[in-house]
Amino acid sequence: MRLSKYLADAGIASRRKSEKIIADGRIQINGVVVSEQGWVVDPDKDIVMFDGMRVCFQEKIYIMLNKPAGYICSVNDPHGRPTVIELVGDIKNRLYPVGRLDLDTEGLLILSNDGEFTNRMIHPRYHINKKYQAWIEGHITPAALKNLAQGVELEDGLTAPASVTVLEQNQQSTMIEIEIHEGRKRQVKRMCAAVGFPVISLKRTAFAFLTLDNLETGQYRHLNPQEIEHLYKLARSNTN
Ligand code: URA
Repeated sequence: MRLSKYLADAGIASRRKSEKIIADGRIQINGVVVSEQGWVVDPDKDIVMFDGMRVCFQEKIYIMLNKPAGYICSVNDPHGRPTVIELVGDIKNRLYPVGRLDLDTEGLLILSNDGEFTNRMIHPRYHINKKYQAWIEGHITPAALKNLAQGVELEDGLTAPASVTVLEQNQQSTMIEIEIHEGRKRQVKRMCAAVGFPVISLKRTAFAFLTLDNLETGQYRHLNPQEIEHLYKLARSNTN
């Protein structure tokens, strides 16, 4: 097995990040530092160390959490804020958020220790759609809706086409549903602000075909093998 795949499968990092870790000389195989990419590992025989720690295969875990607002999407927070990892604290394996939701964003978040899966779910080239419901200030105009759908010019470039619909309206605000696949930092909030309708609150309601269904805020469930296979297949077929 190629070394970068071995590291990704062992949950160290995505394949791309593992290549960087190798190039940085942080991996030893059988006591020898290996910094070239071409190495092949025999998982039954070779002893692989990362920063001096033995790399072991772990059971792969895939969790879907209904994230409450007020929890940060990191493994730990230097400012001491609650993390999403605390919400799955009864699972003893090391888990990482698959992409990020902002501190004040709620909704569907996947957590896993499968680095390759994480990469496929969040890299824009795999086109995994994510759906959000956003309450925005004011009554959105047809021109702004069209702009959101066609692509908005942000400081990091034009956004890809999105699917946008109006779900509800009251005197001061509108609830829209927006589906995107890029997952740039604070993307929905920046898109809405750029067309003149700042976001008041944001919830992710779907990740590919997965929806929250009856999952209460703060609760999680394991994905089943069919769901995991389906997500992998989607990522594969979206790049063909
Ligand atoms: N877009 C945002 O602006 N924030 C999120 O948390 C997710 C998507």
